[in-house]
Amino acid sequence: MIYRHLLPLVALLLIGSEVSLSGNILVLPGEFSHWYNMRVIVDELVARNHSVTVLIHSASYSVNYTRKENFKYTVFKVNVEKEDAENMWQNHINVWINEAVPGIQTLLLFWNILSEIQSYLESICDGMLLNQELIASLRESHFDVLLYDPLMPCSDLLAETLGLPRVMSNRLTVAYTFERLCGQLPTPPSYVPAVAAQGHLTDHMSFLERVENVLLYVALTVVYKLQMITFDKYYTKITGKPTTLCDTLGKADIWLIRTYWDFEYPRPLLPNFKFVGGLHCKPAKPLPKEMEEFVQSSGDDGIVVFSLGSMVRNLTKQRANTIAAALGQIPQKVLWRYTGEKPDTLAPNTRLYDWIPQNDLLGHPKTKAFISHGGTNGLYEAIYHGVPMVGIPLFGDQPDNLFHMKTKGAAVMLEFNKMETKDLKDALTEVINNPSYKENMMRLSRIHHDQPMKPLDQAVFWIEFVMRNKGAKHLRVAAHDLTWYQYHCLDVAAFLLSIVALVTFIFVKSCAWLFRKCCRRTSAKSKKE
Ligand SMILES: *[C@@H]1O[C@H](CO)[C@@H](O)[C@H](O)[C@H]1NC(C)=O
Ligand SMILES: *[C@@H]1O[C@H](CO)[C@@H](O)[C@H](O)[C@H]1NC(C)=O
Ligand SMILES: *[C@@H]1O[C@H](CO)[C@@H](O)[C@H](O)[C@H]1NC(C)=O
Repeated sequence: MIYRHLLPLVALLLIGSEVSLSGNILVLPGEFSHWYNMRVIVDELVARNHSVTVLIHSASYSVNYTRKENFKYTVFKVNVEKEDAENMWQNHINVWINEAVPGIQTLLLFWNILSEIQSYLESICDGMLLNQELIASLRESHFDVLLYDPLMPCSDLLAETLGLPRVMSNRLTVAYTFERLCGQLPTPPSYVPAVAAQGHLTDHMSFLERVENVLLYVALTVVYKLQMITFDKYYTKITGKPTTLCDTLGKADIWLIRTYWDFEYPRPLLPNFKFVGGLHCKPAKPLPKEMEEFVQSSGDDGIVVFSLGSMVRNLTKQRANTIAAALGQIPQKVLWRYTGEKPDTLAPNTRLYDWIPQNDLLGHPKTKAFISHGGTNGLYEAIYHGVPMVGIPLFGDQPDNLFHMKTKGAAVMLEFNKMETKDLKDALTEVINNPSYKENMMRLSRIHHDQPMKPLDQAVFWIEFVMRNKGAKHLRVAAHDLTWYQYHCLDVAAFLLSIVALVTFIFVKSCAWLFRKCCRRTSAKSKKE
């Protein structure tokens, strides 16, 4: 009987001993929204008494490493100026949002920027991996795990150099290229669409769509293999033995994927792929006083929240005017995050802000719709709070993200460079006044909230798991050790087919032989007669 009373105490002690485990974590973040997302994990790790070191290069423009934090920044010098890096990314964005540039010129610009990005990546890799002092001091720190964003170049090479188990944080890449080729994620082309961005490939495909999907996978694989040539050379140079980016990336112990079944089409996953989409979402906090007054002034009509994300700072005058004119025609009040020049057509119902507390606004009861570029962070805040969307995708995974929302009946999609004032106004009216959008978004929201473990707890659990167990090799599929023809059992098929062929051959030959023998005998007999 006494044990019964002791049990809670023992449990408490056990829990106590578990939380006192405090690890030493090295973090390599990406930029912009990728960092905002990872920052939430870092804060949670710190709150659980782990010691965290964020390793960042001197040209980072969205990680403010001069700020005092309750974790440590280690900054390494790279051969790039902050302004140059920032200009490079801004130019990259301007290619996408500038309709004035004709197609072929865009392509050339894009090509230039790609090679610019490549040399930028190499500078960062050099700055990190060839800095002996840095590597030595990181070695001495005896980290337990590396948490990284694959957008931070060479992060997996660093893990390799330091011999650390690793947890990767990632949104499934467009067409699952990295996950499929490097992580061995199965993607049956019959029902897993390579890219939804085309606007018509979902998990239900007709025969012709499946043909298109298979061809897309092949084309994307070829493009990927070509892109990897330079990277593989670099990886081989650094490690001093034949190494590919894909193999190095594929050694991640856990892949934390920043989506979930509220967003993805049902599809097969591997045991080391963990969905943690929406880990940054929180219940809404009260708004700043001035903002709350503006929101309340909207009355029953409510408000619309508008942001194209942290990377887009300004638009062309013409685009900004088209958008502002549409916003002026709806009865709602609009809060628009925009740092460019004030559009001439800005109506009194619209206010511009340099920054908005997006999660708190989306969680506000007066919010009717969210106009968004479709970045994964904003999209998950909309799902979390159940706010239907008008999507204006710009680049990267954004068209794909929004297409998912559209096919789930929770968003209307527009084309940034083609939309007119009327299109935006109609889209807003539709999303706000047709209740099906809200209902569908609320359904996704219920799915999102109805999970056995909160996404942030899940992310932290797996990081701690990897620290406790020095990796997660038991979740690694053996597909990593197979060649492509072994993986698809083509060698087995060839073997079995040759047996069948051999048996058939022997059978046919023996039949022929028997037949000839019979014939000869009968003909001999008939001759005798
Ligand atoms: C972290 O450490 C502090 C002080 O040692 C302790 O009071 C607190 O309970 C710990 N928190 C967790 C989550 O372990
Ligand atoms: C970075 O942090 C420092 C110190 O808190 C602050 O003075 C500075 O304005 C910040 N920079 C940016 C770009 O936010
Ligand atoms: C944004 O502003 C910068 C300078 O302020 C300018 O060079 C650039 O062309 C602008 N972008 C667009 C799309 O208008």
